[in-house]
Amino acid sequence: FGLSKIRNFSIIAHIDHGKSTLSDALLVRLGNITAAQRRDQAQQLDTLKVERERGITVKAQTASMLYQGEYLLNLIDTPGHVDFSYEVVRSLSSCQGALLLVDATQGVQAQTLTTFRAAQEAGIKVLPVVTKIDLPNAQVEDTIFSMAATFDLDPEHVLATSAKTGQGIDAVLETIVKHVPPPPSEWDAAAPLRARVLDSWYDPLRGVVCLVQCVDGVLAEGDRISTCHLMSGAAAAGAGQGGGDTTFSVQEVGLLTPAPVRTRSLWSGQVGYMIGGIKSVRQVLLGDTVIRAGTRKGASDEAPPPPLPLFAPCRPNLFASCFPLDGDDFATLLTAVERLALNDASLQVHRENSTMLGHGLRVGFLGLLHMEVFKQRLDDEFNMAVLVTAPNVPYIFRDRDTGAEVEIENLADWPEEKRRGVTQVLEPMVEATVITPEDCLGSMLTLLQDKRGTELDTKFIDGERVLLVYKLPWQEVVTDLHDKAKSISSGYASLTYRPIDPEPADLVLCEMAINTEVVGALSFVSHRSSVMRLGRDLAARLKKVIPRQQFEVVIQARLGAKPFARERIPPYRKDVLIKSGKTVGGGDPSRKRKLLDKQKEGKRRAKTVGKVQLPQSAFWALLSKD
Ligand code: GTP
Repeated sequence: FGLSKIRNFSIIAHIDHGKSTLSDALLVRLGNITAAQRRDQAQQLDTLKVERERGITVKAQTASMLYQGEYLLNLIDTPGHVDFSYEVVRSLSSCQGALLLVDATQGVQAQTLTTFRAAQEAGIKVLPVVTKIDLPNAQVEDTIFSMAATFDLDPEHVLATSAKTGQGIDAVLETIVKHVPPPPSEWDAAAPLRARVLDSWYDPLRGVVCLVQCVDGVLAEGDRISTCHLMSGAAAAGAGQGGGDTTFSVQEVGLLTPAPVRTRSLWSGQVGYMIGGIKSVRQVLLGDTVIRAGTRKGASDEAPPPPLPLFAPCRPNLFASCFPLDGDDFATLLTAVERLALNDASLQVHRENSTMLGHGLRVGFLGLLHMEVFKQRLDDEFNMAVLVTAPNVPYIFRDRDTGAEVEIENLADWPEEKRRGVTQVLEPMVEATVITPEDCLGSMLTLLQDKRGTELDTKFIDGERVLLVYKLPWQEVVTDLHDKAKSISSGYASLTYRPIDPEPADLVLCEMAINTEVVGALSFVSHRSSVMRLGRDLAARLKKVIPRQQFEVVIQARLGAKPFARERIPPYRKDVLIKSGKTVGGGDPSRKRKLLDKQKEGKRRAKTVGKVQLPQSAFWALLSKD
């Protein structure tokens, strides 16, 4: 395939607007999968167990398709939830076009706006599509007009499809070939090899598998390769390359359809997989440039080609600690998390030691859903049961005298009250975009004000809906703003956000103590005005979720070592074989075994802090909804 016959495109949309279903419809139409396969396995491109269970896309996936025997179309399916927006940005930077999908029954939503903006920032061609037009409540005309008005488009250019009936799918394919530009003409099959690592994952049988986009040259089986990347910082100075000390021999390359099809070589413009005997997850990083080995250090007179530009770095919005539930499983946890991090460029991991919880990891996430998915993937894919503490946002401490700033990822580093005179605390802020039906505008405004929001913009986007742009503390958004906005609007409002500069705020640390010992992992930071309410609330919630122990448990919320809320859990002799004074199970040994096993499983799912068994729900009590 010459470059002029290649099209790289993505599908972007608000969550649940039908990206994965449309991708599947394209795959069926071009014969990559059969209609029966499609029925058997809902959503071919959602391969992770967590994706199928939750019906969401977490990882961007790729499929190459042959169109009319002459075009190679590379589709990158992207996640819709804002927590996975880093995957979207990364996907867009390797494409020249994107289908912007809008559900005809839902209209333009908050994430439609942000993904459109991301595509514009990436400078790629946007093709607007209305989908689900087969549904009886589809409002096709209205949706087309509001898309045209919101994105300043010609309504004639909006395509209408149904991924269920196949209507309009051919027009989508024709438009992609006609309007998505081919890869840049500077890409050169005759130049020295440069391929970019777009993604990688761990296959138990084959080791590390990389998804690569070949920019220049040809990547062929048998080639000896190494990787390099621009070092951040050095990149600005135009110098410095990192990585690349190890060389690999390429064992297999091919296209993903999405099933792997071995092709033995990948040419400039193609996107495919590469297996190269890479053993350690640290040897290849996302965004690395693959080059031919020997060209980098210039042993010969040939100068190495410069590495391809880096992806923008990803900054975590949330930090939580993660501990193995079986005390000495730390090494297993470390390996599992490293493998997950290989497949998830937005995770950031450091080691941590807690006096109460033992060896663990401090992990940076993009949001709460990202954190929950991380926990579930460890369980599903690595059989690793972990405890994840309540997350906190990263605060910034500014020295009032020198102006020096440090980012605090862990509340254990919170300054004592007496140091407050010299340290100013800044909290992370976001610009949130909310689209809400007009009839619940009043309650939505109250909610945003309760969350310490400041209005930036308000306008009608169609006859019945209002677009609100608010500046809010990220901490207020992360806990429950999304759920509250949904419940106020019976599910009709949508919300998204992007980080903006942090701002000073009057924040305090509320410590939670159990039997007089402060448990750092339960403590939290809040605005001074709401700390008493939240502390009392948390103590009451903990009382509900901590099981009775064989001794009394006293929960306290404290401010500067002074308790202001107290709850008590009375002792209980937890002998599972005795109920209301009678021995259960009678003489039946299998029933007795079952009860004891159940008790053991309960213990396996809890963590002992001091002497008290705390279940996962205790650590997430601060987040739990009313
Ligand atoms: P995320 O990746 O989680 O953001 O979701 P998505 O955008 O990939 O949406 P998905 O393809 O999972 O579709 C969401 C729901 O809409 C599913 O129940 C689909 O069956 C349904 N759906 C998608 N496209 C159509 C369509 O054209 N017609 C009808 N009737 N239903 C559709």
